[in-house]
Amino acid sequence: MSGISWKTAGESHGRGLIGIIEGIPAGLTISEQSIQHELKRRQKGYGRSERMKIEKDHAEFISGIRFGQTIGSPICLYIENKDWVNWSEEMATFGSPPADLEKVTVPRPGHADLAGSLKYHHLDIRNVIERASARETAARVAVGAVAKQLLEFFNLRIFSEVIQIGKIRHTNPVWKNLQSISENDLGTAINQIEKSVVHCSDEAVANRMIEAIDTARERGDSLGGRVTVIALHAPIGLGSYSQWDLRLDGLFAQTLMSIPAIKAVEIGMGSELADHYGSEVHDEIFWDKQTTKYFRKTNHAGGIEGGVSNGEPIIITSTMKPIPTLMHPLSSVNIEQKTPEKRYKKRSDICSVPSAAIIAEASVALVLADQLCKKFGGDSIGEMKDNMENVLYDRQLDILQTFSLGDWRLGLTD
Ligand SMILES: Cc1cc2nc3c(=O)[nH]c(=O)nc-3n(C[C@H](O)[C@H](O)[C@H](O)COP(=O)(O)O)c2cc1C
Repeated sequence: MSGISWKTAGESHGRGLIGIIEGIPAGLTISEQSIQHELKRRQKGYGRSERMKIEKDHAEFISGIRFGQTIGSPICLYIENKDWVNWSEEMATFGSPPADLEKVTVPRPGHADLAGSLKYHHLDIRNVIERASARETAARVAVGAVAKQLLEFFNLRIFSEVIQIGKIRHTNPVWKNLQSISENDLGTAINQIEKSVVHCSDEAVANRMIEAIDTARERGDSLGGRVTVIALHAPIGLGSYSQWDLRLDGLFAQTLMSIPAIKAVEIGMGSELADHYGSEVHDEIFWDKQTTKYFRKTNHAGGIEGGVSNGEPIIITSTMKPIPTLMHPLSSVNIEQKTPEKRYKKRSDICSVPSAAIIAEASVALVLADQLCKKFGGDSIGEMKDNMENVLYDRQLDILQTFSLGDWRLGLTD
């Protein structure tokens, strides 16, 4: 079966962004409200720049949806850049550059600026900045929101939590308690995360994260951190050990690493595994006579073994480096004069980890939707549902997780 593919286009200060997602079966009801809701979630978060006050992202659907349902053709969406009005001359697609155009000639350390301008032989680094910018992730979140709706149809639920900002770590994040948490408590924790300006379930830890961001701001500095994405109810058997490029963990790593500033991706306990004996970390297998199903008491593997989903919640943690544009900038070189120079900026995020959590959710959703379509896909949603029920229930591969969170995502207030 073929899966899902997606692309984005657009420059940060160009007219707008485009997202295209192909392979979503026909007949899936799409809620426009929840797409806009995801875009809003990406723009929130303590530590973001003034740009977020200018941009009020809204996805306009151009194709692939009719009367609120997918029709099996490519879904194309457009997000206008509200800031374009201030850049229309500098970023004009045709015509000559304005007489007073100021070329960008000082590359920022930690950005694609130097390597990108040398690679493409750009003499104005703006040609690099514009596409390398994380503005692209708005389109990714919008196509990811479509993927999320396919997953939700099959009861897969995705949420995320910020577990570290700078040196402030959340040592008891939600994912570590999933084996024992009640459905009610999980719902409460998710609501708490959504209300938190740093996307963290623990208020005391969140307050310390906010303080850390304030301190970085005062220093003219920036911070990174870590976010965990949790996918509930992914069925057994997504991905494969049979070829290197089919492994589910590898697919997640590629997609999450492609988010600007993400520098490490870990599955389950991740790098912590190296601190333990094997007997302490491998999730033992048990058989439940009543339900006639296998079960685990732990999920250190994060729901993936041998590149295949094993029916446990999928847990993926991504590490974001500190934002590279600093109010007290680092040393660089003017590429025309070859003289030392620092590039001063008026506006940049100090910490974007809470937004990265939403982008990571979208990325995980895109991988899972692709895998779900590859395993169970059909041309219509009904066909896909039949395929899924045949495979899962006939072969008793239906999963043991029983979180039925209902419409928790849509019910959230902005
Ligand atoms: C949501 C989000 C917002 C970001 N905002 C900024 C920003 O305001 N200023 C900045 O210098 N980098 C920002 N970044 C990080 C850069 O885009 C990224 O570090 C840069 O493109 C270089 O890519 P690399 O870090 O993957 O090497 C942001 C990243 C994300 C995911």
